[in-house]
Amino acid sequence: MDIDVVAGSVTDVDDLAALWIAMVEHHRHLVGQEYPVRAAEQSWTVCRQEYRRWLEEATGLLFIARPSGSGEPVGYILCRLAESGATFDLGRIRGDVDSLVVADRARGSGIGSALLAACRAELQRRGCSYWSIGVLEANHDAARLYERHGFRPWIRDMLGQLEQPS
Ligand SMILES: CC(C)(COP(=O)(O)OP(=O)(O)OC[C@H]1O[C@@H](n2cnc3c(N)ncnc32)[C@H](O)[C@@H]1OP(=O)(O)O)[C@@H](O)C(=O)NCCC(=O)NCCS
Repeated sequence: MDIDVVAGSVTDVDDLAALWIAMVEHHRHLVGQEYPVRAAEQSWTVCRQEYRRWLEEATGLLFIARPSGSGEPVGYILCRLAESGATFDLGRIRGDVDSLVVADRARGSGIGSALLAACRAELQRRGCSYWSIGVLEANHDAARLYERHGFRPWIRDMLGQLEQPS
């Protein structure tokens, strides 16, 4: 399958629902027994609002992979443009990949890598020196891909459940 990776905009967001839901279901498969993962439709409602806001505010970059000659998206990457913050001198803005997903049937053929490469090139064009990506500890396959693209473990997010006092 020949694939084109093109920049997307807010008008493309509604085309991403099925891929987003596939990623949520992948997360449910990995950690749904341990952590509460939102129902698919509810999750997409929240995600759609966020994507629209980030793209309208120009605090997000979107790249979409489609079979050549158009067609349904088979993957996408959404990268936030984040302030570097007070501790680490990562330049004024760093990229922070919020979402990366490729359709189940198309995985393992280089589309995820092509999406990462398109995003990296745009960040470099904008003068960014660093980018980051969050990955579930249980998502070993994705982490291996990210290490191949130069990412290294950095911050470790930890989650604690709070019991409500009775
Ligand atoms: C992670 C993902 C985007 C990679 O896209 P891809 O097109 O399969 O990636 P590529 O073909 O460029 O690279 C293949 C590598 O991706 C990783 N990978 C992760 N899940 C994979 C899967 N189900 N099938 C194949 N490769 C997978 C592996 O590191 C693989 O390399 P390997 O040969 O060492 O196993 C895609 O597999 C996916 O959508 N997974 C489910 C959602 C997800 O986990 N997203 C990441 C959230 S942080």
